[in-house]
Amino acid sequence: MSLTERVLITGSAGFIGSSLGERLLREGKRVRGIDCLTDYYSIDQKKANLAILKHYPSFEFVEKDLNDVEMGDLLKGVDLVYHLAAQPGVRASWDQFDTYVRHNIMATSRLLAALEVMCPHIPVVYASSSSVYGNTKEIPFRESQRCSPFSPYGVTKLAAENLVSLYSTNYGLKTVSLRYFTVFGPRQRPDMAFHKFLLSVLKDKPVPLYGDGRQTRDFTFISDVVEACVRSPQAPSGSVINVGGGSRCSLKDLLEHILPRVTERKIRIEVISPQAGDVSDTLADLEQASKYLDYQPKVGLCEGLKEEWDWICRFYH
Ligand SMILES: NC(=O)c1ccc[n+]([C@@H]2O[C@H](COP(=O)([O-])OP(=O)(O)OC[C@H]3O[C@@H](n4cnc5c(N)ncnc54)[C@H](O)[C@@H]3O)[C@@H](O)[C@H]2O)c1
Repeated sequence: MSLTERVLITGSAGFIGSSLGERLLREGKRVRGIDCLTDYYSIDQKKANLAILKHYPSFEFVEKDLNDVEMGDLLKGVDLVYHLAAQPGVRASWDQFDTYVRHNIMATSRLLAALEVMCPHIPVVYASSSSVYGNTKEIPFRESQRCSPFSPYGVTKLAAENLVSLYSTNYGLKTVSLRYFTVFGPRQRPDMAFHKFLLSVLKDKPVPLYGDGRQTRDFTFISDVVEACVRSPQAPSGSVINVGGGSRCSLKDLLEHILPRVTERKIRIEVISPQAGDVSDTLADLEQASKYLDYQPKVGLCEGLKEEWDWICRFYH
């Protein structure tokens, strides 16, 4: 990684892409970002993310869709690719499956085909997801267990992950797929639970809770995810690795105990019916991450949530 000349980040205006970009730029890397600024959530938030990256002269931005960008220009001079561009979110994926297929599967396929022809030797890191596992009771989730996605979004993330593996086994592309588990922290997407909870608290509104709150999630702080990304080119080619936070918690516990402590405010809850596609529990087995990336999550739930709360307060003022 230290010898890397120029890193390409797809989805660089997004939550994780911009956080990774900032870390690499701060370390002196040259970064080319591509993003088509989809309207899945506020473009203002994406522009604010980009504005931070644009402070660095070594950042170059391409506002284009991976489905129609000129790949030769995009990949010129690049020696490491982080492929994070995607249409995220479980709930919307029921109604707009074609959009998910386009951004998650077709865009990945086009990128991989171009890499195979133009620069088959550069490492490619794909942002996969815990959603590939589905609603399984086999906990903690191991990379070797059967994947059975529970939402159309999960189906597209698994299809793209399989494409990445195909290009590794058939054409020798140097790939690593990282399965992120519910990422949180500053710049989190506004459709994600913590962002919604904290914004409701800030605006003194009831916090929306889908279902009975007994569902649990393995929450992963953004700087831990970024660290795993930075280390991932050292993993064996073709690997698939969980990136969890080691902070599994039920939403009920979070709302009753952690949120009041972090925000120092009273929390009112509004219960909303459970959403199709939401799984009961997630928890990452981190053995592979520890073995191949020497990865251990560093930031716990309270500490990370406090950072997100401070960011929410700044961002909405
Ligand atoms: N946030 C999480 O908790 C989480 C968990 C598991 C996996 N992931 C994966 O991590 C990646 C980043 O997630 P995020 O939360 O930062 O999402 P995000 O929506 O904030 O970022 C994704 C970015 O990709 C861009 N994009 C989408 N399709 C594109 C295309 N065809 N061409 C160019 N740009 C395109 C979007 O405009 C967006 O800015 C995604 O692949 C997502 O599936 C995220």
